Amino acid sequence: MSEKYPFSKGLAGVPAAETVLSYIDGERGKLYYLGIPIEEWAESSTFEEVALALLLRRLPKREELKMFNAALRSARELPPEVVDFILDMPLDSHPMTVLRSVVSLLEAYDYDAKLDDLEAKFRISLRLIARFPTVVAYFDRARKGLELVPPDPTLGHAANFLYMLKGERPTDYEARVMDVALILHADHGMNASTFASMVVASTLSDMYSAITAGIGALKGPLHGGANERVLRMFREIDSPEKAEEYVLAKLARKERVMGFGHRVYKAYDPRARILKRYAEELTKRSEYYQIALKVEEVMIREKGQKGIFPNVDFYSGLVYNGLGIDTDLFTPIFAIARVAGWTAHVLEYLEDNRIFRPRAVYKGEIDKRYTPIDER
Ligand SMILES: CC(C)(COP(=O)(O)OP(=O)(O)OC[C@H]1O[C@@H](n2cnc3c(N)ncnc32)[C@H](O)[C@@H]1OP(=O)(O)O)[C@@H](O)C(=O)NCCC(=O)NCCS
Repeated sequence: MSEKYPFSKGLAGVPAAETVLSYIDGERGKLYYLGIPIEEWAESSTFEEVALALLLRRLPKREELKMFNAALRSARELPPEVVDFILDMPLDSHPMTVLRSVVSLLEAYDYDAKLDDLEAKFRISLRLIARFPTVVAYFDRARKGLELVPPDPTLGHAANFLYMLKGERPTDYEARVMDVALILHADHGMNASTFASMVVASTLSDMYSAITAGIGALKGPLHGGANERVLRMFREIDSPEKAEEYVLAKLARKERVMGFGHRVYKAYDPRARILKRYAEELTKRSEYYQIALKVEEVMIREKGQKGIFPNVDFYSGLVYNGLGIDTDLFTPIFAIARVAGWTAHVLEYLEDNRIFRPRAVYKGEIDKRYTPIDER
């Protein structure tokens, strides 16, 4: 049937909302939060400040940040029933499955979820940002048979996450690397998981449902799940000498090389550039880093003219691996950061909400007759 609106598969290039939160200049390989280049945030800010800036849509004042930091620290612990739920999850569950389920469950324990006003949704946003690391760290320790490590209110967001995960305080360098990784993943325009959250929120459903949808979308290998697969690919390649042959064979089979390509970037992802530096510092002498360099060289040689370059997921896995973090926690770490962007976009959109309701291009027949079941 002819439609009066143009059709774009995967909504490629279709603007779905207006925002001041982040902007990607895909041709020049630039990313901005609130107009400020990502390199400046990575150099000078903290994840907590980025999260608050996104929620407020402006740089916070010193006193505001101090209060936000204190509120985050005191909101980290989970209701005891929710901790029991985490302990009861099958030990072989993917941590993203646990995170998605727990966030959904948390709604039942939050009185604010019953309120409709934006202030209540702001408080929920803060609680979600505070609690994601606790959920991930608690499950990781539980499945390893280790005692849970309660959050330490003297530590910042990134340092506390590493502490809850490992049971010992990270060095300042490790905490800073994690902080930068969280800053770099905090927001990224109208990506699939942000859009999923916004679609749910636009029906005036609750914040927890919206964020649960975001986690579900992020889990997929074409989105946040790619970082985990990048490391598996390095394992499969096994040594730098085998990298070129591996990549060429994959391309010949028309398969995707994980950690490359992007719907918007047609240049080197600026986040990958920053993470590459840390990956080098942390894993310079490891086989994986040498494999990564070779894969990058071959991919840019083969696909660079088509605008396919490393994306954020290519080096983030190496960085987390260098910090001694298990592969299946890479995507949950992405979620720990991106929940800031999801909640900020939802709050921004709800200020002038309109339910998302696109159309489908109908390709079937019309005016067919209903055939009784015995005659089919
Ligand atoms: C991110 C991604 C889903 C973007 O998809 P998209 O905008 O729909 O791009 P398309 O799938 O239309 O790809 C365009 C072309 O580039 C090729 N391409 C894109 N990413 C590629 C990759 N990682 N490896 C090899 N070829 C790739 C496609 O095969 C296609 O080639 P063709 O025109 O000859 O058919 C895609 O690049 C991808 O699958 N990357 C790997 C997964 C990944 O790293 N995801 C994390 C994103 S942050």
